[in-house]
Amino acid sequence: MEMSDLDRWLAQRYLKGHWDHQPGPPKVQPYLWRWADIYEGLRSAGEVVPMDKTGRRTVQMRNPSLPAGMTHTIHLSVQLVKPGEIARAHRHVAAAIRYVIKGSPKAWTIVEGERFPMEEGDLITTPNWTWHDHYNGSDEPVMWLDGLDARLVAYLGAQFTENFPQEQQPVEKPDGYASKILGTARPTWMKTGFSSPPFRYRWEETYATLLTLKESEGDPFDGIKLEYVNPFSGGPTLPTYSCEVQLLRPREKTRSHRHTSTTVYQAFRGKGTTVVEGTRMEWEQGDLFVVPPWHWHHHENSLDRDVILFCINDWPVMKALGLYREEAQSV
Ligand SMILES: [Fe+2]
Ligand SMILES: [Fe+2]
Repeated sequence: MEMSDLDRWLAQRYLKGHWDHQPGPPKVQPYLWRWADIYEGLRSAGEVVPMDKTGRRTVQMRNPSLPAGMTHTIHLSVQLVKPGEIARAHRHVAAAIRYVIKGSPKAWTIVEGERFPMEEGDLITTPNWTWHDHYNGSDEPVMWLDGLDARLVAYLGAQFTENFPQEQQPVEKPDGYASKILGTARPTWMKTGFSSPPFRYRWEETYATLLTLKESEGDPFDGIKLEYVNPFSGGPTLPTYSCEVQLLRPREKTRSHRHTSTTVYQAFRGKGTTVVEGTRMEWEQGDLFVVPPWHWHHHENSLDRDVILFCINDWPVMKALGLYREEAQSV
């Protein structure tokens, strides 16, 4: 029997020798999606996709290198809710965040009985298995990024979803509840069942912190970078991923590094360049892009004003599994 005969014999029985190398699963490639395209698609969806039939009106990023999704772990969509519309209440095991692109104090995400206003730049978490729905009570459309660990959860076979019995859940908590009980002076008698609490990180406060730190050294690879931490543990935003925001100062060029975690970015303010393995990804405000695992990358701000990137990084899951590795390019 020849080796090739054996390979064929094994293959017929859904077996394979270790010596018979086959291509692995597709690898995530860098890719950039233009805001102009996303917005145009979403605007048209606002005209032709009824909310009552779909429950959500989102345009999802599809990485051309993958059969589905933006990356193999974390995923971004952009959601549009028109005045008076409700995105109906449900919950799922995939943990989600909202990062508001166009908001209003009269638009809310309701999570576990608390309504969180959605103003531009706010980050709102809807952790694993928390009830959530959205309502736009303003006169203008609102839009936000939906970030989820859905690809990872689906791959691990742990995806569960449930609809709330009514279209909207009742609001049972006073406004500002989470920010009060999770402030620096906390109630002694309250215990929560959530290891990651639903929370709103207000842009006003985030931006003020970025500006306060502008004159400091900053992160060599990411400029003035903040992590949105879990208010209980001080650890990452959610068990599977960390939400982060970074300000690049005028003419700032960061050092290059690579890590086994995957990052998805949104250009929140201004325009600039991220160089990934020698390829220049020129981004403008609103664009979304992916930096895949173990790809050298650095950021450049060639403007005379600040630029801001929002990003989601899956390092928490990589570290939890002992798979995180990072390397800096020598200067
Ligand atoms: Fe959801
Ligand atoms: Fe990085």
